[in-house]
Amino acid sequence: MPRAIVAPSVLASDFGQLTAECKRMMKGGAEWLHMDVMDGHFVPNITVGAPILSCVHKGVPGIFMDVHMMVTQPEKWVDDIADAGGALYCFHYEASSDPLALIHAIHQRGMKAGIAISPDTPSTAITDDIGTTADMLLVMTVYPGLGGQKFLERCLPKVAQLRARFPDKDIEVDGGVNPKTVDACAEAGANIIVAGTAIFGSENPDQVIATLKSAVNTAQAKHAAKGVNGTIGKSID
Ligand code: DX5
Ligand code: ZN
Repeated sequence: MPRAIVAPSVLASDFGQLTAECKRMMKGGAEWLHMDVMDGHFVPNITVGAPILSCVHKGVPGIFMDVHMMVTQPEKWVDDIADAGGALYCFHYEASSDPLALIHAIHQRGMKAGIAISPDTPSTAITDDIGTTADMLLVMTVYPGLGGQKFLERCLPKVAQLRARFPDKDIEVDGGVNPKTVDACAEAGANIIVAGTAIFGSENPDQVIATLKSAVNTAQAKHAAKGVNGTIGKSID
C-alpha cells in the first residue's frame, strides 16, 4: 500500500506569509504542500501562478510542491511550473484533450504527473493506460474553485473503485477533508490527504496533520489484517 502523506492546501494560509506558512507546515509534519493554481476560467477564482511558486521554492528548502492545476489548457503551463520547482503537476481530466500525452510531457520535465477528476466525472474516465502511467490520481471531494466547502461523501465510491484497480497508486482526496471526514476517505483507499481549512484554521495544526495521517495508517493496517475472505487476522502468519 502506498504510504500516508498529508498535504496542507496553502489556499487557506496567509498568502502574505506564504514561505513562512510552508515552513511552519513542514515543521509540523507535512511532507507535501498542496498549491492550488486557479485561472479564473476552469474555475471562477484566481490564485497564484509560476512566479509565486518559484519564490516559494527558493524560499523553502526541501519543499515538495504538489501543484493542483485548476486551469484550462493545462498543457500550456508544464514548462513554467517545472522551471518554478514544481515536484508534482496535477491537471484536471475535464480540462485536458489528451491526458496521456500530457502525462508524458510532465514526466519529460522531471515532474511526477497527477490527474484529477471533479465530482461529476466517473472513475472510468481514468482508463487503464492513464491510471498506470500517472503517478497520482486525485478524486475531488468538492467542486474545485474554493476552499472551505462541504465534503461530498458521494465521491468516495470513486476512490474505492480506483484503489481496487490500482492497488499501489498514490490516490489523493481534496476538499472538505478534516478529522471527521478523513476516516471515510482512508477507508475507501485514499493515502494522500489534502486539507486547507482544517489545518490552517486550527490552533494546533501539527495535531491535525498527525490525526489525518494516522487515519490513513489505521485504515491501511485494518485492510492489511483482513484475510482473502475478509476475516480479520487470516492473512497474518
Ligand atoms: C479546492 C481546492 C482545495 C481546497 C481545499 O478547489 O482544490 O485544495 O484548498 O480546501 P478545504 O480543505 O478547505 O476544503
Ligand atoms: Zn486542491
